[in-house]
Amino acid sequence: MSKTESKAWDNVGGVAYSNSQQQADERYTEWAQKYDSDVDTLKYESPQNLATELLKYIDNTPSTNVLDVAAGTGKCGEVLKKLGYKGIMDAIDFNGAMLEIAKGKSLYRNHIEMGIYPNKPIPVADGLYDAAVGAGSFGPHHLAPGCVAPIIHTLRQGGVAIFNCRATPQATEFRNALENEIDKLEKAGMIAKIEVKEMTHYAVECRETGNSMMSKVYVYRRL
Ligand SMILES: C[S@@+](CC[C@H](N)C(=O)[O-])C[C@H]1O[C@@H](n2cnc3c(N)ncnc32)[C@H](O)[C@@H]1O
Repeated sequence: MSKTESKAWDNVGGVAYSNSQQQADERYTEWAQKYDSDVDTLKYESPQNLATELLKYIDNTPSTNVLDVAAGTGKCGEVLKKLGYKGIMDAIDFNGAMLEIAKGKSLYRNHIEMGIYPNKPIPVADGLYDAAVGAGSFGPHHLAPGCVAPIIHTLRQGGVAIFNCRATPQATEFRNALENEIDKLEKAGMIAKIEVKEMTHYAVECRETGNSMMSKVYVYRRL
């Protein structure tokens, strides 16, 4: 592993293994300027993978409306645009410094600086969006499993949500909790599964697995 990769992994680990949401937020503020170059060093593929998957399931028209949840510096928006997405995008994220970088890329209509929390509606009209995408958003001290429901509420009937979670052994407990939450929403008739599969998260060798890091990608439709 090169020195540059090692430093980038330190920054990724600093937020992924933070002790509290406040600490994660502070670390994103410190990291924001270097975030893009660090995740590029680690060949972060989730934005590309999720955007590619999403375009399979939505109508790509100028009025299509996508919410990028925990959008950070706008990686998903960037890739969607590069892949030929023609519609509107809004970004929501609790970290102002990360959103400032996204703003500089002129990708999104709105930059909503706000946290997403379980049992707390996202303050947009119910059913506003055709789709929601969340890359690297779910995890300890990030989006909690209970955040799936508020995200689904922002979608119109038939709208698509795509998000992922690390597929590492270290993330098993969190992933199980996320899947329990998804099951609950499915049993309640709120969502239906389109596809769930593993895809590459970081392509370079990582400390957790000694290999590429995979993530589990969840694609669901609002009923
Ligand atoms: C790993 S970054 C991913 C950013 C972007 N989606 C990407 O793929 O590059 C995680 C982002 O989630 C944001 N975040 C974490 N918890 C959040 C919460 N509860 N509500 C809103 N944003 C949150 C952080 O500020 C950070 O920008």
